[in-house]
Amino acid sequence: MFDRIKSDIRAVKDRDPAATSTASVLLNYPGVHAVWLHRLNHWLWRKGARGLARFFSQVARFLTGIEIHPAAVIGKRFFIDHGMGVVIGETTIIGDDVTLYQGVTLGGTGKESGKRHPTLEDCVVVGVGAAVLGDITIGRSSRVGGGAVVVDDVPENCTVVGIPGRIVVKEGSRVDVIDLHHEVLPDPVIDMFRQMQRRLDALEARVDAATESPTDPEEADTRP
Ligand SMILES: CC(C)(COP(=O)(O)OP(=O)(O)OC[C@H]1O[C@@H](n2cnc3c(N)ncnc32)[C@H](O)[C@@H]1OP(=O)(O)O)[C@@H](O)C(=O)NCCC(=O)NCCS
Repeated sequence: MFDRIKSDIRAVKDRDPAATSTASVLLNYPGVHAVWLHRLNHWLWRKGARGLARFFSQVARFLTGIEIHPAAVIGKRFFIDHGMGVVIGETTIIGDDVTLYQGVTLGGTGKESGKRHPTLEDCVVVGVGAAVLGDITIGRSSRVGGGAVVVDDVPENCTVVGIPGRIVVKEGSRVDVIDLHHEVLPDPVIDMFRQMQRRLDALEARVDAATESPTDPEEADTRP
């Protein structure tokens, strides 16, 4: 148990530059407190004390602002940074070395029963305010951008952003599936005028050429 506590503290120090000492982690990190309380609640849940486990998970939520269903399966060195507003649903499975930021929801879509919450493989990072919904899998080492809403599986080593979540980086390379430059919207009217201008220029050039050398009979035939 002490080894696990030590590795939890080490995980915070590794991933948050603001965590300068063990005392600071013990005192100031509700994400760490929530995970430790969840371990107790998960143990109670597995022993069949489900009502008590749910009650204690609500106590943990009251104390930390983080709601973790006692049935959720969570791996080693799980770190919730800041924490407030995080919700982790009943059938969620979280691998090792996963990081969540504040306001993340690992929830159901409201349409499913049974396994209805996501699976996050090892080393996944989910950014602030993101929602990962349904029985989907976020592949190892993938990153979900802040504010994204992800409703489909994500392969390993990808970055997903936006609503609905789209893969923008895969295995370190950009994937141009969406145009994120909303400030550069196309203007069809201007495009049409530009096209007309180009055709007028071309016609003028042909008329000029024809009036300068009207000897070519083929050229003369095609004149308007
Ligand atoms: C998604 C994220 C992980 C960056 O991943 P990355 O693989 O380095 O991707 P990039 O920064 O190269 O961004 C790729 C594209 O996605 C866009 N993008 C990045 N994050 C985005 C987000 N959260 N929402 C929408 N678009 C985003 C970038 O602008 C870029 O677009 P472009 O190709 O048009 O320039 C990061 O931006 C993020 O959201 N991290 C969350 C961190 C967090 O929650 N911090 C809270 C601290 S309290």
